[in-house]
Amino acid sequence: MKICCIGAGYVGGPTMAMIAEKCPNIEVCVVDINQERIDAWNSEKLPIYEPGLDALVAKSRGKNLFFSTEVDQNIKESEIIFISVNTPTKEYGSGLGQAADLRFVESCARRISEISEDNKIIVEKSTVPVRTAEMVQSILKSTSKGLHHQVVSNPEFLAEGTAVQDLLCPDRVLIGGEDSTEGNVAVGKIAEIYAKWVSKDRIITTNLWSSELSKLTANAFLAQRISSINAISALCEETEANVDEVAAAIGADSRIGSKFLKSSIGFGGSCFQKDILNLCYLCRYFRLPEVAKYWEQVIVINEYQKERFVTRILDSMYNTVSAKKIAILGFAFKKDTNDARESPAIGICKRLLEEKAELAIYDPQVPKESVLSSMGLTEDTAESIVFCETAPEACCHSHCILILTEWEEFRNLDYESIYKKMKKPAIFFDGRNLLDLNELRSIGFIAKGIGKA
Ligand code: UDX
Ligand code: ADP
Repeated sequence: MKICCIGAGYVGGPTMAMIAEKCPNIEVCVVDINQERIDAWNSEKLPIYEPGLDALVAKSRGKNLFFSTEVDQNIKESEIIFISVNTPTKEYGSGLGQAADLRFVESCARRISEISEDNKIIVEKSTVPVRTAEMVQSILKSTSKGLHHQVVSNPEFLAEGTAVQDLLCPDRVLIGGEDSTEGNVAVGKIAEIYAKWVSKDRIITTNLWSSELSKLTANAFLAQRISSINAISALCEETEANVDEVAAAIGADSRIGSKFLKSSIGFGGSCFQKDILNLCYLCRYFRLPEVAKYWEQVIVINEYQKERFVTRILDSMYNTVSAKKIAILGFAFKKDTNDARESPAIGICKRLLEEKAELAIYDPQVPKESVLSSMGLTEDTAESIVFCETAPEACCHSHCILILTEWEEFRNLDYESIYKKMKKPAIFFDGRNLLDLNELRSIGFIAKGIGKA
């Protein structure tokens, strides 16, 4: 059997690498229009940093796992086609800033419809608004070749930084299909692939629309927990309650659970904000404004948390950071990824630049080019930023340190010697609640965490 995946991104690449490793009898080809990306997948330096991914790709690449820009040929030869392209928030026209931009999904559907010479199973891997499969189906039907393709929804729940582990031991695999004999057969074929390494009780099958909507809902619920604890962190700061202690106490209730209650400078990443905006847009489209307003608050609190962090920095630094050197430790939206999409660091750094601060940025994985492009800057317009090779270098002669990503290496730095080389008073802002603030205070830092007195 041959499978093709359109889109060699953070989802398509790792997911197909896992399928290839677990199903040696299936030939898997990941295609993309981006030549540079495909070249990187075929090189020693993969385009994405993800623990365990290099080894996983190395096991199958060149055997039954291939990366190519030959989109048409691979579509033609494959029985199953996964669509794993980006679905960003629309930046133009109707639905601007809210709806998902489905032009990449649509163009894949058109290409498949034009190229195919036999019946295919088309799998929506990309996160899409509920009822997108209807659009895909209607495009596929529009070319009168007498073919009957099946559309299946199989959203991906992996999180960046833990993608390989999430793919290896998923909490569940969700597969939604058309309510018909052909639909059931298609769902069965996709389930068979996952059943090679996932136990059957973790493979959930639903109708198409439940599957599409579950993905948006899962992300909305996860983001809601972060905004909930972040809202409480603001109250903790005012009352000397400790947000970590509050989170541990409420998380001990098995009905609430302990995961995803880490207060922070807000969530980032390519999914949460985009999916909630999309959920709200859908609610308004279906005339449910109260539901839309309810979910919008998750984003309102996320923005509030970032701005609150900047306000704290200004308040603690005599209301001005002009010409002060600020060390930025971490730029990725979370640890163990080189992805800076929607990272809270972007907005925070932009605000500090507006306040005329000098930034010294260090991140173990995010390249300088990604940092600059995410802030809409170029080397020429970034004269107030220096990029550093190590965390101590970024901190040297700085007035304050901001931890913006919870990279493990920031736990183990020699803060005592770092402190000695800083301007005094040296202030430490732990935006990720990573460190013991009392230890930092004993060194001499004015140490501030999120929601910790
Ligand atoms: C998320 C979902 O977890 C995943 O299931 C889905 O497939 C894609 O979107 P991802 O965005 O890769 O995954 O990372 P995630 O671990 O969910 O973190 C998202 C953001 O929330 C990060 O910025 C992270 O730092 C933040 N976060 C997470 C918190 O601030 N506190 C927490 O307790 C957990
Ligand atoms: P995700 O995080 O969802 O995996 P990415 O942006 O990392 O998203 O990856 C999506 C990939 O899809 C990009 O590499 C992009 O070039 C690719 N892509 C978008 N449209 C098409 C298309 N029509 N044909 C092939 N590849 C496409």
